[in-house]
Amino acid sequence: MTRDLHSHASACGKVILLGEHAVVYGYPAIAAGLPNGLSLSATRHADPAKPIHLKIPAWELDLHLDAITHHPVARACCEVLRFCGGPLQGWTITGQTSLPARAGLGSSAALTVAMARLVLGEDAEVDTVMEASLIGERIFHETPSGIDSLVAARGGILRFVRSQEPTPLTPALSIPLMIVPSLLPRSTATQVAKVRRKIERFPNPGQAILSALGAVVDEGMTAIQTGNLADLGEMMSISHELLSALGVSSPRLDQLFHCALEHGALGAKLTGAGGGGCLIALLPPSEASESSEPVMKTAFCQLNLQPFVVNLAHP
Ligand code: PMV
Repeated sequence: MTRDLHSHASACGKVILLGEHAVVYGYPAIAAGLPNGLSLSATRHADPAKPIHLKIPAWELDLHLDAITHHPVARACCEVLRFCGGPLQGWTITGQTSLPARAGLGSSAALTVAMARLVLGEDAEVDTVMEASLIGERIFHETPSGIDSLVAARGGILRFVRSQEPTPLTPALSIPLMIVPSLLPRSTATQVAKVRRKIERFPNPGQAILSALGAVVDEGMTAIQTGNLADLGEMMSISHELLSALGVSSPRLDQLFHCALEHGALGAKLTGAGGGGCLIALLPPSEASESSEPVMKTAFCQLNLQPFVVNLAHP
């Protein structure tokens, strides 16, 4: 017996503040939920035998969840629905989001978490929702660490280590971030494979970089908990340089990194898998950032980009 869908479900987007890539190798990372990541609503289709119709206009997605499809989004959604005991026919699912897709802001995890919650309900156990989400995430990213699914399901700011209970972090000050989509497409699986090849080829320097990324997370955690935004900014910039040494930055991301620092950011880095996706820049605290935020925004707009600002605080 398949279960019916709930009428609404939602999930957060995410931003990795520190520790991406190293987290795949068991080092810690810190990520934060972006509220209002994705909201799905489900209505019954007139024909109960028709495959589910999924429409997310902001991501230019309009497809049928046909179990034999090769489309990765349709396959991932089918697998999540099947795992949760949900239907594969007779519904239309519509998504609303302001997250850009495939930009390192957790769009695929938001989709798989919200899809699981459409079947299991908004109050379903986080562990079960995560398990379902990871089934879909493996179709997108092959060997996901799980950080995206966790943050999409829980929100807040979390310290994450693979296979361990996450630690929620309470920032002493809210963290003002400018998020700058580079508009460059990238694939998480390709970037993760690139890092793996580099570490296999050069194990000693490779492991040293991963270990340094982990140490930066420890320092960054203290900075978040004590409200030391200057130190957090330094850790973000060090993290960008280390990720660059692993080969996952790009000339465009490096240009955006320098643009942020030249226009008043306390620190900046690529976020997520890199290669493209987004840069994040830490703004000075609110009283000071009133002056630096518009200056930085103008600088990015002149590069034909559309940055946006989020203030991360514990929910
Ligand atoms: O898919 P993205 O761009 O959000 O990157 C995920 C973060 C990685 O550490 C690169 C991979 C992972 O599974 O943790």
